[in-house]
Amino acid sequence: MRRYLISMSALAFVAGTLAPTAAMASAQYSKGDGNVSNGKTIYEQGKGDVPACNSCHGVDGNGDDNMGTPRLAGQGFTFLLKQLEDFATDKRMDETMFVMNANAKGMSPQDRRDVATYLAQKQDAFAGSNLKELAANGVVTGKTNFGKSLVEIGSPELSACKSCHGYAGRGAPPIYPVILNQRYTYLVSQLKKFRDGSRANDPMGQMRAIARKMSDDDINNAAAYLTSAERSTPGNPQTPYTIH
Ligand code: HEC
Ligand code: HEC
Repeated sequence: MRRYLISMSALAFVAGTLAPTAAMASAQYSKGDGNVSNGKTIYEQGKGDVPACNSCHGVDGNGDDNMGTPRLAGQGFTFLLKQLEDFATDKRMDETMFVMNANAKGMSPQDRRDVATYLAQKQDAFAGSNLKELAANGVVTGKTNFGKSLVEIGSPELSACKSCHGYAGRGAPPIYPVILNQRYTYLVSQLKKFRDGSRANDPMGQMRAIARKMSDDDINNAAAYLTSAERSTPGNPQTPYTIH
């Protein structure tokens, strides 16, 4: 009886601390404090020598597999701004099209904040890359069931992606980006860049440590699952962060 009472009060303590933490997390999450309309203008029309972002990232902000560009719509504000600052200071090098460093440098710090704010708030339903179409075009696509186990459970050698990126990779702001419904080609290219060290702007080398342990198959499988996964469990539309 005594043990039962102790465990009941421990449970009450856990329940009492967990509930406010979840509420606080969503309240603290920043959607950006920049000027949305200036961000939209830059995204759609460019500025000075900086071309319109939509020419590569799509009118809807959902990226493009043929170009290797990422989806930006609905990504976390703090993460987007960090990437633009990292490109502007050459902490991250764009080796796909060799354009992002110049693009970021061509914007003022306020412009970068404005465009990140616009993108973080851009709502767009997008269910990820079309894996069948990519496979028909000769792209090696991974197996979603193997990818699901890496993302959600991990292995003795590899931490589950979920432990940092949240359920199905739906993001855990401010540090951990949304990788759910990201473009397949971009997911694969970034994992390979973290693995060979050509992308090295991850805090404390967290992603390089993970990617170094991944085989080509692991990368393709995780990317296949992430691009096409659902963002919540069946019957539960609630998520801790309203990112999209
Ligand atoms: C000519 C094509 C092109 C244009 C124009 C372009 N981008 Fe990019 N962008 C890319 C490519 C390619 C990458 C991926 C770089 C890599 O492989 O590391 C990228 C990556 C990014 C990322 C990193 C996203 C992530 O998930 O890490 C951000 C943010 C970004 N671009 C914002 C912008 C903004 C804002 C503009 C307009 C001012 C813009 N881009 C214009 C091609 C382009
Ligand atoms: C220990 C924490 C941690 C784990 C576990 C982890 N990641 Fe990451 N990941 C990060 C961080 C931090 C970043 C952001 C790096 C930055 O700021 O540029 C990141 C970024 C990424 C990106 C680049 C996103 C973009 O838009 O540029 C991809 C893709 C990615 N992770 C995939 C994965 C996959 C797949 C797994 C599981 C196999 C995984 N991560 C596990 C911490 C983690």
